[in-house]
Amino acid sequence: MDWALVFVLQVTFLPFITSQGLFKVEAKPNKYSSELGGDVEMKCRFDPVPMNPLTGLKVYWYWTTNNLVRKVYVMEYGKNNLSLQDVDFQGRVKLNTEELQNGLAMLQVSRLKMNDSGTYQCLMETELGTDYKKMTLTVTAPYKAVTRHIQEVADRDELLLTCQSEGYPESPVVWQDGQLQNINSNTTSVSTPDQLFKVTSQIHIKSLEKNNYTCTFTNDGHNATFHIPDDIPNHPVKNDTLIVILIIGLILLIIVAVLTYQQRKGSGTHNTRNRLVNGRGGFVSAPVCLQIGKENDDDLRENLGASLKAHYTDYSFSTEMGRHWDHPQRLQNNEGQPATLQSLLPEAEEMLFLEGPPGSGKTALAHILISSWAKGPTDTLTNLLDLSILHLLLYVDCSTAKGDLFQEIISQLSLGEKVSTEELRTVLTRSNDALLLLDGYREGDQLFDDSLKMFISERRGCRVLIMACPGHCPILRETVGTRELLKLQTQTVKY
Ligand SMILES: *[C@@H]1O[C@H](CO)[C@@H](O)[C@H](O)[C@H]1NC(C)=O
Ligand SMILES: *[C@@H]1O[C@H](CO)[C@@H](O)[C@H](O)[C@H]1NC(C)=O
Ligand SMILES: *[C@@H]1O[C@H](CO)[C@@H](O)[C@H](O)[C@H]1NC(C)=O
Ligand SMILES: *[C@@H]1O[C@H](CO)[C@@H](O)[C@H](O)[C@H]1NC(C)=O
Ligand SMILES: *[C@@H]1O[C@H](CO)[C@@H](O)[C@H](O)[C@H]1NC(C)=O
Repeated sequence: MDWALVFVLQVTFLPFITSQGLFKVEAKPNKYSSELGGDVEMKCRFDPVPMNPLTGLKVYWYWTTNNLVRKVYVMEYGKNNLSLQDVDFQGRVKLNTEELQNGLAMLQVSRLKMNDSGTYQCLMETELGTDYKKMTLTVTAPYKAVTRHIQEVADRDELLLTCQSEGYPESPVVWQDGQLQNINSNTTSVSTPDQLFKVTSQIHIKSLEKNNYTCTFTNDGHNATFHIPDDIPNHPVKNDTLIVILIIGLILLIIVAVLTYQQRKGSGTHNTRNRLVNGRGGFVSAPVCLQIGKENDDDLRENLGASLKAHYTDYSFSTEMGRHWDHPQRLQNNEGQPATLQSLLPEAEEMLFLEGPPGSGKTALAHILISSWAKGPTDTLTNLLDLSILHLLLYVDCSTAKGDLFQEIISQLSLGEKVSTEELRTVLTRSNDALLLLDGYREGDQLFDDSLKMFISERRGCRVLIMACPGHCPILRETVGTRELLKLQTQTVKY
């Protein structure tokens, strides 16, 4: 026989049965409420209790809503008849059999679904009769987690605030500002696979002035608050831009600082690393050139060159001497052959010695070089000496020199206001069109000797011409050897 028909018959004749029967069922309470996913325990009391509740009692629990019937639980002969149970409830329903002997049928339904809500019926059958009672279950789904979203409306000082949450039943949403004024909202909802309502509520705010906006899902009072403008992502934009600019500025500043540091200090450290002595006794550096600050260097060199020429002109070194340079054979190379005046100009990065006894005319030659450089080649010297390749010529009278080479250069050539010792060192070290001319050099001043040796070893490009009496600078001569040596013979020269 069809089970539904049995049920219908039972329901149809029940009032009849109970009105006469001695057996009674009570449902207290008859209203239950529980959260989605939770448990509920529905109770029915019955009286009298059969001698053996398990065998003498049948328990049926139905869900009956909107003319639909589902079998929640069937206990016949002390056992749950699974084949009669609706699949929706299988594995989620349990009858407390121990309480039956106390006249209490307790049905526990777990993992509640939204569609578990509705009317339930507990129907019991004994030898003495049959009775049933109804009760209702409401499965609730509070709007718990309210998610907030802020969206900037393009090109306008306007924001779209959104609150969203899922729950059951459908909930209205109320918006208020910081002054508790209600704000009209646009609230919509869609249903989810769990039979929940996903409710979305939005308001437009036209002012970004400081204020709070709260959305409340009125079913359960769950709410969320927007703090404007603090909660606006990436706001204010101007501050962000400012921060970016500041960071970029800071990075640039660091780069400039590092570059400046390298420019001032770097050439020295680079050179000591790359220092090598070549076959000619000069120093060779790896062809690494610091290009950094080159333009500054160029400006500085330009200024220096002009200052030096002005200085030398003021001192009016005599060009007369050149005119009397009529004994070129006095100047000899290290093989004893006559040398030209032009051979006094060292090659780039070369260091040259000119040795001659006191009074042999070393200083006179130095003056010819200076004068020729400062004024350009004169008539008489045009064919003999061309220093136009030189951009800088630094003349140091070593007879009075003491202390640091660069300080000495600056003080002797009155460059104190033009250049610092470090700048001068940097410029000289790199320039292959610069000539350092030391006149009357004699080893003995520790500081001067050391700073000279340091410079010679560090320089890349600068030409060096040292004029000294024989035997006055043995240590330096040793590093250079004899090949880069010119000699000046003693001669009575009339100027
Ligand atoms: C379950 O109920 C059906 C229908 O009444 C019946 O045929 C079946 O034997 C019952 N099963 C058990 C295990 O009692
Ligand atoms: C916004 O709320 C905060 C605390 O939540 C409060 O301190 C502040 O005064 C409120 N601002 C306005 C404009 O209501
Ligand atoms: C309300 O919001 C929905 C979804 O965001 C949108 O489609 C609709 O146009 C809005 N209605 C009004 C009046 O703003
Ligand atoms: C009840 O809802 C669940 C999903 O939560 C669904 O799988 C099931 O089919 C529904 N049952 C009925 C009878 O609508
Ligand atoms: C907002 O929700 C909290 C709990 O989440 C509650 O304590 C508070 O009263 C609610 N505020 C309003 C205005 O409903």
